[in-house]
Amino acid sequence: MNMGLLGFGVVGRGVYDLTADRDDMFVKKVVCLEDVQLPDAEVTKDFNSILTDESIDTVVEAMGGLHPAYEFVRASIEAGKNVVTSNKALVATFYDELIPLAKEKGVLFRCTAAVGGGIGWLSELERARRIQTLEQVGGIMNGTCNYILDSMTRLDLGYDEALSQAQALGYAEANPTTDVEGIDTWHKVILSSNIAFGISVDTDSVPAAGISRITAGDVKNFKEHGYVCKLISTGMMKDGKLSAFVQPTLCPAGSLEAAVPANYNLITLVGSASGRMSFYGQGAGRYPTAYNVMQDCADVLAGKGFYSPYGGKVSAENAVELRYYVRGGSDAWLDAQTAEHWNDAVITKPVPVNEMHKWLKAHSDAFIAALPQE
Ligand code: HSE
Repeated sequence: MNMGLLGFGVVGRGVYDLTADRDDMFVKKVVCLEDVQLPDAEVTKDFNSILTDESIDTVVEAMGGLHPAYEFVRASIEAGKNVVTSNKALVATFYDELIPLAKEKGVLFRCTAAVGGGIGWLSELERARRIQTLEQVGGIMNGTCNYILDSMTRLDLGYDEALSQAQALGYAEANPTTDVEGIDTWHKVILSSNIAFGISVDTDSVPAAGISRITAGDVKNFKEHGYVCKLISTGMMKDGKLSAFVQPTLCPAGSLEAAVPANYNLITLVGSASGRMSFYGQGAGRYPTAYNVMQDCADVLAGKGFYSPYGGKVSAENAVELRYYVRGGSDAWLDAQTAEHWNDAVITKPVPVNEMHKWLKAHSDAFIAALPQE
């Protein structure tokens, strides 16, 4: 395999390093805007140099972001090159365009590293659905949020202090919005649901609530009631109806989710034959993520492309009802839903997920967390 590598950041550098001693995969050219010298590969700022190089059969996209990653990946597929990408935003956003295009052009497309970093989650999801009906996917998919919530719970830190620590350790970015507002997890659960259920989820129908408004007082409240707060994603297909959402969720102390430390991920599927099955590991980082990119390259070498059949656009209804912890933003609707009080917060009666998220959008000072289903 002759690879053209797009991007030489955390993941791209990792892929380059992992190919070093192999005799079946070679990084021939690297697109990188910085001046880098590499002993074994040509470094260029010009993507066309890869596109027009007929000896390059596989493009590995590790740039991140939507543009120009989308234009480069699309052009690569059109030019008849296989594509391996770790870019969740790209694949979640352009799923119903890129998957059919790859099929039409007869190229192989894979994106295992887009969800779960080094965990072989998407590739196992693909295998899981060959044998059974998948009912639910999701879990802890964001290492940054888990690090912050874990530090707040175990070390009694405030949100700002926990975020600063995550930034100092390189888990959280200088602008942490994508992670802490649940957008990274949102892309990941959309992509996971696409594969699990053989559909293309209408992204506008999937709400996401993040963790940026959580306080040390909330965490104390949760501990007093035997819970640990995690950012949990859910994709669920029941009676032909899709639910998909991202939200802080209270996990019983002693549950698997509650025990996930630092920046780790725990992702779970529920299948008609396998039942509940969970995958735990490093959801980010250079070598874990590059490992899954390399696994995809090995699958491409074996002639194995991506993933599930594509069965058209589906909107999430999110009519499933949950109880919520709500602090802040009181009004008549919330008063009508209130079942009990935990200090300065309320616990609602079961309310439809879509209604709770609609309410949250109009109350920018409130923090919500779902309670486990009874
Ligand atoms: N920012 C992501 C995380 C990286 O914190 O999990 C992997 O997608």
